[in-house]
Amino acid sequence: MAFTIAIDGPAAAGKGTIGRALAAHFGFAHLDTGLLYRATGRRMLTGLDPVEAAQSLRAEDLDADDLRTPDVSQAASRVAAIPEVRQALLDFQRAFARRAGGAVLDGRDIGTVICPEAEVKLYVTAADAERARRRHVELTGKGHDVTLEEVAQDLRDRDARDSARATAPLKPAEDAVLLDTSEMTIEEATARAIAIVTAAQ
Ligand code: C5P
Repeated sequence: MAFTIAIDGPAAAGKGTIGRALAAHFGFAHLDTGLLYRATGRRMLTGLDPVEAAQSLRAEDLDADDLRTPDVSQAASRVAAIPEVRQALLDFQRAFARRAGGAVLDGRDIGTVICPEAEVKLYVTAADAERARRRHVELTGKGHDVTLEEVAQDLRDRDARDSARATAPLKPAEDAVLLDTSEMTIEEATARAIAIVTAAQ
């Protein structure tokens, strides 16, 4: 039986962590849709046309180890504003969402555009400073040489671009449950998300 959990929200709000935890708890597959845009942006930086890059994306492209750098983050958000890029990535995401056995997708437009019929929609947010702090810890922990201010600026730029674009802008679906994780530990946020999904089953 197909059961889709759609998770949207601004950058570094905890969507991926919550998505992975929900997938593990319910035995669902998980797709971080940001990776599709990051891999497309990364290929654009190597000189490819972004629409062709999205159309010819392969599974291996999602495994590149530099997909989280600030350059690739910005490139992802720029290619994500191109309607033909979004169109090229649509069918894959929809098919993933309706696979048998359940699926969790996280991104910016999952509840609004990719899966408006999702059984559960979460909109995950956290205060700007907290999101920057968390992402800075994550990146420096992986050995990336970035300052807190650079990370904060990257998040501000992307959130502004992602919210302002004409096609599939970042916004909560009307029927999404809001989850502000600013004051929550990972465990608390995950427990809350599990409770929301359990109540919807
Ligand atoms: O989620 P993540 O921060 O990895 O996404 C990178 C960029 O990809 C975002 O800033 C956004 O521009 C784009 N994106 C999107 N729609 C999605 C997922 C990501 O536009 N569903």
